[in-house]
Parts: sequence; structure tokens; C-alpha cells
Amino acid sequence: MTRRIEIPELSLVLLVGASSSGKSTFARRHFLESEVLSSDRFRAWIADDENDQSATPDAFDALRYVADKRLARGRIVVIDATNVQPEARRDLIALARSRDVLPVAIVLDVPQEVCLERNMVRADRRLPEGAIRRQVRDLRSSLRSMQREGVRQVHVLEGAAIDDAIVVRQPLWSDRRDERGPFDVIGDVHGCREELEALLATLGWQRDERAGFVHPQGRKAVFLGDLVDRGPDSPGCIEIAMRMVEGGVALCVPGNHEARLLRKLRGKDVKLTHGLAETMQQLEVREPGLRDRIATFVDDLVSHLVLDGGKLVVAHAGMKEAYQGRASGRVREFALYGETTGEIDAYGLPVRADWAAEYRGRATVVYGHTPVPSAEWVNQTICIDTGCVFGGALTALRWPERELVSVPAQRAYAESIKPLVKPSESRSAQHEADDLLDVSDFLSRLRVDTKLAATVIVPEAHARAALEVVSRFAADPRWLVHLPPTMSPSATSSREGLLEHPEEALAYYRENGVARAICEEKHMGSRIVLVLARDARAARARFGVSGDERGVCLTRTGRRFFGSDRALEAALIDRVDAALAKSGVWDELASDWIVLDAELMPWSAKAQQLLREQYALVGSVGRASLADADAMLDRAMARGLDAAAQGQLGALAERTKSRRAHLEKYVDSYRRYCWPVASIDDLRLAPFHLLASEGRVHVDRDHLWHMGTLAKLAETGDPLFVATRHRVVELGDAQSCADATQWWHALTDAGGEGMVVKPLDYLVRGPKGWLQPAIKCRGPEYLRIIYGPEYPLQIDRLRQRGLGRKRGLAHKELALGIEALERFVRREPLRRVHECVLALLALESEPVDPRL
Ligand code: CTP
Ligand code: MG
Repeated sequence: MTRRIEIPELSLVLLVGASSSGKSTFARRHFLESEVLSSDRFRAWIADDENDQSATPDAFDALRYVADKRLARGRIVVIDATNVQPEARRDLIALARSRDVLPVAIVLDVPQEVCLERNMVRADRRLPEGAIRRQVRDLRSSLRSMQREGVRQVHVLEGAAIDDAIVVRQPLWSDRRDERGPFDVIGDVHGCREELEALLATLGWQRDERAGFVHPQGRKAVFLGDLVDRGPDSPGCIEIAMRMVEGGVALCVPGNHEARLLRKLRGKDVKLTHGLAETMQQLEVREPGLRDRIATFVDDLVSHLVLDGGKLVVAHAGMKEAYQGRASGRVREFALYGETTGEIDAYGLPVRADWAAEYRGRATVVYGHTPVPSAEWVNQTICIDTGCVFGGALTALRWPERELVSVPAQRAYAESIKPLVKPSESRSAQHEADDLLDVSDFLSRLRVDTKLAATVIVPEAHARAALEVVSRFAADPRWLVHLPPTMSPSATSSREGLLEHPEEALAYYRENGVARAICEEKHMGSRIVLVLARDARAARARFGVSGDERGVCLTRTGRRFFGSDRALEAALIDRVDAALAKSGVWDELASDWIVLDAELMPWSAKAQQLLREQYALVGSVGRASLADADAMLDRAMARGLDAAAQGQLGALAERTKSRRAHLEKYVDSYRRYCWPVASIDDLRLAPFHLLASEGRVHVDRDHLWHMGTLAKLAETGDPLFVATRHRVVELGDAQSCADATQWWHALTDAGGEGMVVKPLDYLVRGPKGWLQPAIKCRGPEYLRIIYGPEYPLQIDRLRQRGLGRKRGLAHKELALGIEALERFVRREPLRRVHECVLALLALESEPVDPRL
């Protein structure tokens, strides 16, 4: 008959048996090679000899190290060593304990003669007979002592059972990842039955014959424990939960109050404090069988549950990452009571360690236990015990919606020892937790998972450079919720005299299956990102900033756009706010903050230094020296030379004249984009992306929505705002494309920089992944500023430019910028937002041709 051995999916399995009992054979048959850590193999790795006993201590050191790493990651470990002596097992059992994993033994109880016989014929090793006899003797006494040493399951196999056994891995009880919800997670009820029924009704649950309540959309309720004590009807509350759990429409984890009630019901000596007296009285008048039903129900509850594919963890008092999905006394204690520092506070209550503030896990943890004035997110955790029994409210969290639903308590049924005061007026709990960012959060995580570009990996040196930039030059990091991506130019044109032409940009989108594109006029200014709140109070509440600031103007690299000129920045923010109010955009968005992507003109407002030191310098030095050359050539010609020399000089004079003409065009070009700025009245702002507002990143809207909504700012009549001219192109229609090209010619002939071509939808997936969100086509005269006065003379060489890197960068930066906003909108911790922003800044240290 086959022996079925059931072991926990996550466990430390000790194979126990004398040499030649067949441990390695058994391990090979039932486990993956990578799951089995064999002392022989480790001896070989360390000393090139499986049988070198002098290597044993080092081999076990290394083995334990690897075992620990695997257990930390939640992977089973099988130890293939004799494990027949308590000393050999002790460290391994301790290791399992330290990772809250169950130690399990599978004993191969093979008769001594069989082992000796096999040993005699082994090619790989032959042990002295005495050693095997000793091992068999040790094994006999081990059979009696292993449970006592802390091995939780001992499976003994003998004879034919060894060959016939099958090993079945059981998921841990807490592993309910296959429960996908959607869920309504309900906080501490404490006997408030009427409020519980009201909350269920508010959540859309309907009365049901069988389960008491069912949800028409098939939702499942999750009770976080502490259903009982203090309130008016504890039996009624636990009854509701029991019926729903039995009816398959709810899950439940135990609270510390259920644990105490169970002990009381089991006849243990428990003081009738903390509301237990009331519960016992309420039970007095109920049918006698109810007590037993409650006791059985509570006894079967699992300390915490991992749900929804591992994305959601529920436990009464919370669950730190290292304990999730594990089983030990410690884990259960944590689930019921949380972590305490061992100190007692002024109210005589244990001081709770703030595991949530340090939480860095991926799963969201929803818990109760500690009454709070309002449920607030901290590092992907949320406490939804809003103190109903103390007169607060009963709260539920809808998952995966992350929506909070509360009903107020009808009255205070008990008095809280400790008043429920919110630590701060306006900043959120997350802001308090974010107050001190830990530099190691950034340096240890150089991989950022994004929705659009999968994982972006940042070289550590670049991450350090970005951190340096942020810590020294950037705006208050609380405002850094986004940085815009770079933009690639269109593929290089092969047309006479042109490096860029709309044809290539339109073709790119057409060939990638896009039907409609939008061409937007490219303003020659500087990229500016505006992050602003409606007022300072909203800024504090949403961004956690302190003081009276209500917004910032950022450059592409996260610096304050106007440097130390806070007055100008504040004036601009005020004007934008006023226009958002007047145009009705604030109301339309139902938000009290916004992130805008825009161009600020003139170019000279930001690039003053670049202009003076580079463009103007080339202009004036060029003019002076070419004028000198011209004069010199004139004088030489006047001297009367022979015909041959005359011809040569003439050619040189021709060339100099042409160079002067090029230079004049160059000066004209850059001057067109510069005008003096004395005050805000000299600035022009052209917003083109309304990136995000409360609850939403607007990349799911098309560019006509962005253009249309932002045009309303210019329509207010405030001359600060410039609406961006644009037109839609049907990419399959030759005439439409020709019209767009014509428009580009008109724009660039009139001295414009050029245009930006985008697919009409903000984000488009092509056959080979996400497409470039935008492609710029710059006019020939604008490119003169970038490539130098005489670039038309070298255009063939310039055509060799490679765009691959720039495109890759634009793509990754887009993914990171959007990811940062999405995380911010979801109210994730600041470090999660910054991870994206920093990675984007780090990418900016990649060497890419700055002229692209
Ligand atoms: N063997 C056997 N019948 C079995 C199991 C094993 O004949 N049911 C033989 C194997 O082929 C091998 C020898 O017994 O030649 C030892 O088996 P192994 O699995 O290597 O035993 P271990 O317990 O791993 O021995 P050690 O502690 O020496 O590694
Ligand atoms: Mg072996």
C-alpha cells in the first residue's frame, strides 16, 4: 500500500537515516534538485571531495546559509544528511524557527543489515561498519526525542513503504490565494450588531435564508476579528459571521477577544474584563448549544489569510512581511496582538511597535485591533478599526477597489481608556510615515517595475548620481510626483537639405497600426511641470508639505524652474489656479490638485546662460571674425594679383560671404525665441498635457481631450496662456497627410520650431510594445541653432545620427513618469513614487546625443 506523506508546502524537511538507507535516492525521487541541500554536495563544493570529513563544519555553515536564503523567500528546503544526532538537528530546527517555517522529519528506518550490505557494494563511498552501526543506534533514540526537540511532524518509513511512498505538499492554512474576491473587509465589530447589519446593507448585501446575507455581485465578506465584547450583542455578531462563513460567503480571522472568549468557553480561568462579562451575560440568555458552536468556530480560525493571488493579507492586528503566509506561535501572536515594545504607556496599555511604518512588503495588509479616528493608508497597510463600540464608526474596505465605506455608531457603548486623537490636523498618516525617507530604500532597489516598460533597471552609479541631484538641487521632494520624458525626433529624412520631415513621423505611427494622429505646434520654450493644489491646506493634506506653499514649477530634472525667484513662481501658480477656477476645470475634475505638463516661453526665460555662453557667443564671435576675413580679402583683391591668384581669392571670398549668410540666419533663428522678461506679464505658458488630478492619471483620455480642456485656460482671456494649435491627421488618407506636411511647412517657414506628432490616444500598444508617445519634427532653421550655423553644408554627415538610444530612453522615461503618477494617485508611500522619479533622473545620466 502506498504511504501518503503530507508535508506543509513551506517547510524544512530533515531526511533522517543511516548512511546507505537511501536518503539521496528518496530525495531525488520526490524533490527538485534545487530543493535538496546535501551535506555531501556542500563538502564537495568546499573541499572537492564529498567524503572529506574535515570539511564538515564549513559545509554545514554554507548549507545553513543557503537554506536560510531559501526559507526567507518562502521556498521549501530538504536537508539530505544523516541527521541522526540531536546536535546535528538542533541548528536546523532553530533555523526553521527563525523563519517561522515548520520543521518536518522523514525518517528512513532501514534495518542495519540492509545498510551494511548496500555500503559494501557502493562505488562512491564505503563507511566503516562501526559508523553505520552507530548511526542506526542514534536513529533509534532519535525516534523518541525528535518531537521534543521541536520537529513538528515525524514521518517514519520502513521497508517497502520507502519505495512506495508519495509526498504530498499541503498549502498552509493561511494560503487562500485562490480566493479572488472581490471582498468587503470589515473592521472590529465588538458586538455592535445593528451597525454591522447597517454596514452590510450599505455595502449592498441582501438578506438570505441560508447564509443570512449574500451579495448580488458575489462579493465575499472578510471579518477581521474582535466581533465580540463590549458591545450590546456579541452573540448576534458572531452568529452573523458564523452563518456567512458556513454559507461560503465570508472568511474570518480571529481577534484577541475571540481568543479570550474561547479560553473562557473551554473552562479556563479568564478574568471577566475588557467587555467579556457583557458577552457572557448575553450568552446566558441564548440557547446552550450556541456556546459550543462559537467555541468550535473560533478554534478553527486561522490567524491570518493571504488572499487574491497574494496581493492581500488580512489579520486582526496586522502582519509584517516576514511572517506572511507562515506558521508559528510567533506569527499567531503577531496576528492577534500585533507587536509591542514591551513598554506600558500612560494609560496602562502596552506600547505598540509601529510595524506599519516600517512595512516594505508588496502585499496590502488590512487589519484592525487599534481604534483609530479614521482609516488611513500607511505603506500599503490600513487599519480599519474606527472604534465603533466607542462611538466611532464601523468601517469596511472594498477590495480591490480600495474604497472605504463606514456607518456611524448609534452611540458609544463603552468608554475608551485612551482618547482617539488624530496626531495631525491635515497631514495624512502616510505623510507622517514618509517624513524621514531612508536612503537605503533607494540604493537597495534599483529595479523599478512599471506598467508600460516592465522592469527598468538602473545602474547603481546612476542611482547615486540621481540621489545626489535630488538631495542637493531638486525642489522639496514631496512635490516630485512626476518628471516628463524626453522626446525622440522623427527618423532622419533623406530629402534634400532636410534632417527632419513629417513624413517619417507619420509613417512610424501608420506602420504601427495607428489610424489617427494629432500634430501639435511645437512651442520654442522650456519644458515646465506644474504641480499645484487649490490652496495651502489642500497642499498639506495631499502632498504633506508644510508651510504655505501650494505648488511648484519644475524643470525636466526636478529643479525649481524659477530657481530662487519664489515670487515669480508663486505668481505663475496663482494665475494658473485662477484660470483653472474660472474655466471650471477644477470643478470638472473634482480635484483640489493637478499636475500639468507645459511649455514656458520665452526660451530665454530659462536658458539665459546657455544663450549667452553658447548661441550668442557663436553669433558675435562669428560675425566679428567673418567680417575681418571679408575685409582682409577685399584688401588683398585690391592689391592687384595675377589671374590665378585672383581666381583663388575670389572663391575664398565667395565662401566667406556664404558663411556670413549662414551665420546671419543662425542669429535670426535664436533671436526669434528670445525676448526680455521683466515680469510675469512677459511669460507665456502653453500647457499640453493635463497629467493627473485626484483619483486619476489622464493617460486614458485622448489628446483632443487634453487640448480641449487646456484650451479653456486660454479662453479665460488671461494672456499668460497660449492654446496650442493642432490638427488631426487620418494616417490612411494621403491628402490628410499631405495637408499636415503643408501645415508643418507653413509653421516652420513662419519661423516656428516645428511640430510634435502623437497618436490620438495617449498610450498606444503597437505590434512590438508601447509606441513612442510623441515624435518631434523640427524645422530646418530651428535645427540650425542646434547643429550650428553651417549645418546645411554638412548635412550628409549629420544624417548618420543614431536614434536608437534616444527612443529607448524616451520609452523608459515615459513608463517611469506615468508610474510615478499612478503610484501617487493610489496614495502609495512617497518612496514608491520617488523610486520612479529617481530612476528617471538616473536615466538622464546616460550619454545620449544632446542634439536629438
Ligand atoms: N539503494 C538501494 N535501494 C534503495 C535505496 C538505495 O539499493 N531502496 C542503494 C543506492 O543505489 C546506493 C546505496 O543504496 O547505491 C545508497 O543509497 P543512497 O540513496 O545514496 O543512500 P544515502 O542514505 O543517501 O547514503 P549516504 O548517507 O551515504 O549519502
Ligand atoms: Mg546520500
